[in-house]
Amino acid sequence: MIEIKKQIANQIGKITNLEADTLESFIETPPDDKMGDYSFPCFRLAKELKKAPQMIAEEFAEKIQLDSEVISKVEVVGGYVNFFVKPEVISRSVLEAIHQEKENYGKGKEGEGKTVVIDYSAPNIAKPFHIGHLRSTVIGGALYNVYQALGYRTIGVNHLGDYGTQFGKIIEGYKRWHDEYDIEKNPIDELTKIYVRINQLCKEDESVLEACRENFRLLEQGDPYCTELWNRFKDLSLKEFQRVYDLLGSKFDSWNGEAFYIDKTQEVIDILEKNHKLVESEGARIVDLSEYNMAPCIIEKTNGSTIYATRDLAAILYRARTYDFDKCLYVVAYEQNLHFRQIFEVAKYLDLDEKYIKGLEHVPFGMVRLKTGKMSTREGNVIKLEEILQEAIQRAREIIQEKNPDLENKEEIAKRVGIGAIIFNDLANSRVKDEIFDWDTILNFQGETGPYIQYIFVRTKSVLEKANYLPEFAKLDFDVLSDEYSQKVMKLLYQYHDILKQVIDKNEPSILSRYLIDLAKAYSVFYNENKIIVEDQKQKDARIYLTYAVNLVLESGAKLLGIQMPDKM
Ligand code: ARG
Repeated sequence: MIEIKKQIANQIGKITNLEADTLESFIETPPDDKMGDYSFPCFRLAKELKKAPQMIAEEFAEKIQLDSEVISKVEVVGGYVNFFVKPEVISRSVLEAIHQEKENYGKGKEGEGKTVVIDYSAPNIAKPFHIGHLRSTVIGGALYNVYQALGYRTIGVNHLGDYGTQFGKIIEGYKRWHDEYDIEKNPIDELTKIYVRINQLCKEDESVLEACRENFRLLEQGDPYCTELWNRFKDLSLKEFQRVYDLLGSKFDSWNGEAFYIDKTQEVIDILEKNHKLVESEGARIVDLSEYNMAPCIIEKTNGSTIYATRDLAAILYRARTYDFDKCLYVVAYEQNLHFRQIFEVAKYLDLDEKYIKGLEHVPFGMVRLKTGKMSTREGNVIKLEEILQEAIQRAREIIQEKNPDLENKEEIAKRVGIGAIIFNDLANSRVKDEIFDWDTILNFQGETGPYIQYIFVRTKSVLEKANYLPEFAKLDFDVLSDEYSQKVMKLLYQYHDILKQVIDKNEPSILSRYLIDLAKAYSVFYNENKIIVEDQKQKDARIYLTYAVNLVLESGAKLLGIQMPDKM
């Protein structure tokens, strides 16, 4: 692709003798394209050139060569020079790249040689997979795909919550009441019931709590009976989780959960001890973080067992050594902010290379609320994710039944639309915002939704089918795409690669979901304003090719978000 920003930076570089790369990083996109396609803020050079921004801008405007192949016009507005790019250049540049790269258009190599570990999903064994885990699964999955598309080696880790004292309790409950619960049939529901019931009993009877602790101690020591039960709970839960992952299309490279680190926590303790960072506090061993205004990080409890944080520290050591990561992202709700600040601080005392410490990053996200209020609490009242996904598919099925009852392959389409709607909703807004879950908006085919993008995609597909040929690239005339509506689409297509880079710069998939909405809307306007299958061959060819480009980018972008496109709708 013609790198327009680079060309502008080069021209300014020639005038000022400043470095083009730096200049390029200053270039902005004006809020309204009536003001131009790119804008150079001259105040950034005022100090260096010892002149007022306005004067610099005027000087640039005078000296910029308009016979350049790219720029058609410059304008000075205050301290800005605004650049107008020749429409023909944008169209040619985009369509040429599409022609060469097809579905790889927009992807890149910036991550080559770099590794990013993404820790996401991570539900807890014997507990429901709830809607908060869905957010982690969807955001983490989208980041995984975009990093990969930009050439990074990506490692997706499902750090399962498969360890902790709660297993001592579930084992105790199971011992007492296994006849009353059918854990084969409905593992998570039944195990949750057992857990709630035994907890209640523990509150009433101290000796039961003691028995639970003893079970956990036995489990830690590898007692065969406890281990076998724990393994069974784990297998049954995973089977249930897998149904959700199959619906979402989620995949992981590693399933090393908390239990994987049990025999690796001693090293954490040893290193911290050697570095004089462990202190006794009420029988427990902790790392004091008061100088950072944080509560202490507990490493070892009074009874000698480790906790969530210790296992996360062991995981940092393991991941650094095993994957030699450049980044290690934790896609976990913002409720765990303190936890990650603590372990990232303590990780500095583990004798790891600076590189790894710098690479650790918590990627937090907000809570999901029902339109009517909070969605899930720790006790009870948890809405199960699988039910939500099934309901989405059911609702999509009903809409399709009503709008297009003769559609072939309705089941598969309902699945793609329903699941796509849920995924898109999770990614539609900046991740730190709390999300409002409202069926009417999620599945609105005319709103800013997954189904809307799918719907426009299907429209591009039917245009291409109707045309029944793909014009030869070499014969395209780019001038006929200079109208406002075509240009709007072309400029968006031009930005695609840049959008993907922004997604990983901020670890923010919503940048891509917003972009796909903008592109779908721009195509919809283009389609309403321009007839595509027209007499004029040049016009027809160019418009079909534009449609082809939109079709590719919508599908490729949606796929990166984890959304599958239907063929028809
Ligand atoms: N299982 C945890 C939860 O459900 C999330 C684990 C996140 N990953 C981690 N490395 N701590 O809250």
